[in-house]
Amino acid sequence: MSEDLLVNPFRETFSSRQSPEPCVIIIFGATGDLTHRKLIPAIYNLSVDGDLPSPVKVIGFARRDKSDEEFRDDLEKLNRKVSRQGHDDKLWPTFCQSISYHRGEFQDLEDYKSLARRLDEIADENQALSNRLFYVASAPEFFDEILVGLKESGLNEPRDDHWSRVVVEKPFGTDLPSAIHLNKMVAQTFAEKDTYRIDHYLGKETAQNLMVLRFANTIFEPLWNHQHVDSVQITCSEHLGMEGGRGGYYDKAGALRDMVQNHLLQLLSLVAMEPPTDLSADGVRDEKVKVIRSLRPLKDAKAVAENVIRAQYTAGSIDGNEVLGYREEDRVDPNSQTETYVALRVHIDTWRWSGVPFYIRMGKRLPKKATEISIHFKKPPCVLFNRKGGSDNQNVLVIRIQPDEGHSLRISSKVPGSALRLEHVKMDFRYSTSFGKASPEAYERLLLDAMAGDATLFARRDEVEEAWRFIDAIENAWHQSDNPPPMAEYPAGHWGPDEADEMMRADERLWRRL
Ligand SMILES: NC(=O)c1ccc[n+]([C@@H]2O[C@H](COP(=O)([O-])OP(=O)(O)OC[C@H]3O[C@@H](n4cnc5c(N)ncnc54)[C@H](OP(=O)(O)O)[C@@H]3O)[C@@H](O)[C@H]2O)c1
Repeated sequence: MSEDLLVNPFRETFSSRQSPEPCVIIIFGATGDLTHRKLIPAIYNLSVDGDLPSPVKVIGFARRDKSDEEFRDDLEKLNRKVSRQGHDDKLWPTFCQSISYHRGEFQDLEDYKSLARRLDEIADENQALSNRLFYVASAPEFFDEILVGLKESGLNEPRDDHWSRVVVEKPFGTDLPSAIHLNKMVAQTFAEKDTYRIDHYLGKETAQNLMVLRFANTIFEPLWNHQHVDSVQITCSEHLGMEGGRGGYYDKAGALRDMVQNHLLQLLSLVAMEPPTDLSADGVRDEKVKVIRSLRPLKDAKAVAENVIRAQYTAGSIDGNEVLGYREEDRVDPNSQTETYVALRVHIDTWRWSGVPFYIRMGKRLPKKATEISIHFKKPPCVLFNRKGGSDNQNVLVIRIQPDEGHSLRISSKVPGSALRLEHVKMDFRYSTSFGKASPEAYERLLLDAMAGDATLFARRDEVEEAWRFIDAIENAWHQSDNPPPMAEYPAGHWGPDEADEMMRADERLWRRL
């Protein structure tokens, strides 16, 4: 039988990861949105799939008074709404018995000491529960206090031969000095190998598949360089504006800090990195950080003005509904200089990528919610079928990160008929149809990895700092130079400002239509 007639002849499991181990997960900020919307549903779904090690207990730490029952009831309400696999009334009562609540103030050492006593009792009853995973899910202004509390109460120290690890949520700093400070605080409390800086984009199935696509296939890697690639685009477009009071946080952050510094530069490093020597956490992260380090710095306001477009949305229409402009939104300064859209042209000064521009754009209130990476290959020579040079005559490999995860490859094909007419066709791969099941949520994968001691999909200290170094130069040009580049505008529901299209036209390119 020929190989292509065999059904699924190739299925292998590769992992540098140990098995996830039993532990107690202690969530700081457990009455908050992240815990209810993401963390508990992720743990619940892992439990439903039988992927959770046994036993696992969860202790929620927050300041308001609540009994265990009240805490569980609140979690149940949200789990019903958001759980990936729905909510099973038969499973939940057993599952939720492993969750309890610890009332405490982040600033009060006594509350950490009482937590320590409680954890010791749990470990005395069951040695396997001596492992501790501390999840810092609070607003960033409390990160320091929580780390100090963990250190002074001795909770950072592993018990016997077990482990004590910390997961830190984003944002990891607001600029380079604050990231260095936070890294120092973490390093005084936990070893780097026990520190897990969450970037939930890395937990997404398609982001993980990027390495597989590149290094488990032979057809792409020979083309993955300046000789064959014309340019690369990374787009994250969001439909949402400042719903749910988000304006307060966003107006201090902006698109560049909120999305580009972390998620989009992480995607860029996965696309552009060299093959790692192995799949260990440091093997992969060593290569990723080299990409960030090789980003050509934007040295002054002129370089920033030439290569970065910032903009705010004005009033417009989304799905037929009138929506406010950014400056009219709740909790946003009416004179705000915060960007809701940013487009960058960046260069990676390495042999592989010499002369290849990477275009990154991120915007709120755009027509569609989607994140994707597109690799635009060089045009064929202007002979035979391409005599006019055609502006759009390129092969494009699209990697859809979300939603509708998958890949597609655009190729030229002859339209059937007597005339020789060419059109683009797509070879398409969709996760949902090929594997017949929905991808797990990023937090599911990342929590399991933290329980297994695998930091591959978490940002390392130097990655975070290098990314801030690049971003700070842009922020400084915007907010500290005498001659800051202007803030452009786009109506809500449009694909960003004209200035971003102009930047592409100047390079004789176009943004990809999503
Ligand atoms: N929400 C998301 O979808 C999301 C996504 C990605 C990242 N994040 C990140 O996750 C973190 C948490 O976000 P969130 O939306 O869950 O925040 P949130 O809803 O504002 O929750 C904050 C939590 O901190 C607790 N808290 C505040 N001050 C306290 C104190 N002095 N002592 C003890 N507890 C205190 C609150 O407890 P009380 O209720 O008892 O006051 C609450 O549990 C942030 O760093 C955010 O950037 C969130």
